[in-house]
Amino acid sequence: MGNRLSGKIALVTGGSRGLGRRICQALAREEAKVVVNYAHSIDDAQETCNLIKSEGGEATAIQADITDQNQIDKLIAKIEEIYGQRVDILVNNATGPQPELSIEENTWGTYMDQIKFFVKAPLLLAKAVLSGMKEKGAGQIINIGSDVVQSGEANFSNYVTAKSAMIGMTRSWAKELGPKGIRVNLVTPGFTPVERHADISQESIERHKEQVPLRRMGQPEDIANAVVFLASEESGFITGQQLTVNGGKSFGV
Ligand SMILES: NC(=O)c1ccc[n+]([C@@H]2O[C@H](COP(=O)([O-])OP(=O)(O)OC[C@H]3O[C@@H](n4cnc5c(N)ncnc54)[C@H](OP(=O)(O)O)[C@@H]3O)[C@@H](O)[C@H]2O)c1
Repeated sequence: MGNRLSGKIALVTGGSRGLGRRICQALAREEAKVVVNYAHSIDDAQETCNLIKSEGGEATAIQADITDQNQIDKLIAKIEEIYGQRVDILVNNATGPQPELSIEENTWGTYMDQIKFFVKAPLLLAKAVLSGMKEKGAGQIINIGSDVVQSGEANFSNYVTAKSAMIGMTRSWAKELGPKGIRVNLVTPGFTPVERHADISQESIERHKEQVPLRRMGQPEDIANAVVFLASEESGFITGQQLTVNGGKSFGV
């Protein structure tokens, strides 16, 4: 436990499981008050809160579909009602289903399904928290991308395309918001098994490890630690950057 984020309100989208849960826990260990956003699984979101509370941290689960403007408005209003304070740290982490589709199988709709999570939702959320951050002259926005943008992945262009947009968006927001004291960065995880990867064979895991210079799989905590770093003052002179957390797996670009 530390106190690097003491007194800060952190909103983590998709905090009910997977990387989001570990990001919530890591932020709470630094004394942030964490809003665990979720869409469907109240039990999972509650479990994230229980884990945080069992370590002495503070967390509240709030349901909202972050691709919907009305639900975002209600989410932000509820946070202010509960804490009497505006959001200091926004982590754009949530994802919907990520179907692997060939170019022929893809449609504008399947592209938009990804873009609404990785472009629309971060934009609507940023717009919702910016006035509070500007008033304080401080704030952190941390987008969660993916290293598939560097590797390119066959039959996954819907997801890769939407994730690609996040780097340009991050850089552009960082330039615009830097003068206001607001930093914007992108964490790009490599393959980091979470609950939804339970069916992946040991053979695939071993094959992946062979390609990772550090010869292990990423752990959700590896991603969470990067987020805490970017949320804290230790990274106070870093903005508009991409921090890849994938054990050094490089793609020759
Ligand atoms: N894990 C990896 O290997 C990996 C690698 C690279 C990048 N990433 C990125 O890391 C982020 C987290 O991935 P993950 O693997 O942890 O995903 P995950 O385990 O599938 O979790 C997704 C989270 O998003 C929430 N969610 C889904 N639809 C939502 C909506 N409409 N509104 C609000 N929340 C919603 C889910 O909540 P409900 O359960 O309530 O639906 C859940 O908490 C994603 O952006 C992903 O692209 C992951």
